[in-house]
Amino acid sequence: MSHSLQEIYNGFADTYEANRGVFDISEILDAFYSLLETERGSLLDLGCGAGEPVARYFVDNNWLVTGVDFSERMLELAAKYVPEMRTIKSDITKSEFAPNQFDAITATYSLFHIPASTHVELFKNLHRWLKPKGSVLFTYATEEYTGSKVFDGYKTFMDRALYYSHKDPKELYTDLEEIGFSVESIKYQSIGGETFLWVTATKI
Ligand SMILES: C[S@@+](CC[C@H](N)C(=O)[O-])C[C@H]1O[C@@H](n2cnc3c(N)ncnc32)[C@H](O)[C@@H]1O
Repeated sequence: MSHSLQEIYNGFADTYEANRGVFDISEILDAFYSLLETERGSLLDLGCGAGEPVARYFVDNNWLVTGVDFSERMLELAAKYVPEMRTIKSDITKSEFAPNQFDAITATYSLFHIPASTHVELFKNLHRWLKPKGSVLFTYATEEYTGSKVFDGYKTFMDRALYYSHKDPKELYTDLEEIGFSVESIKYQSIGGETFLWVTATKI
């Protein structure tokens, strides 16, 4: 029987959180944070999970953080670990925010679970929600992880078949630039034995 991604993340939220330290992204967060010229800004964290390490990092820097996730168990853990974060239980693709609201948006290890056919629409939303010169940081799956230049299917993660989807990085780059982002950094990083593309882009 197949389970939705939401059910799967509810099921392994506790184990995921317990093992989160294996995927140390502190250097990536430091680099992203140093790009942001705002103190005490507002962050939207999409697929916030249990709030660690991203929401925690920004809260510790006195930012106002809004986290979106559709897993209630992940959000229960987030309430424990980052009680300062405002959370919204919602599907990222169905979220709506006022324009020009956030200084930064993060989506670490989450967007690759959203169909690539909807990525342009999603990035247009992110662009609209960001303030001018606001920046986004996200993790993108590529051939290095899925084995295919473009992918729309299932891969095993923590012994479960999870849905992943991505385009070719060149197409991703073109999409972002056409939408009105300036791509600041797009590079492969191997963390905890997994290689993903890490992208930082700024709203022009
Ligand atoms: C691999 S975890 C990453 C959590 C956190 N960002 C981190 O870096 O550890 C992916 C998270 O994204 C959430 N997620 C995946 N697809 C989602 C969607 N369409 N809408 C809302 N949350 C989603 C899952 O529930 C899960 O908490």
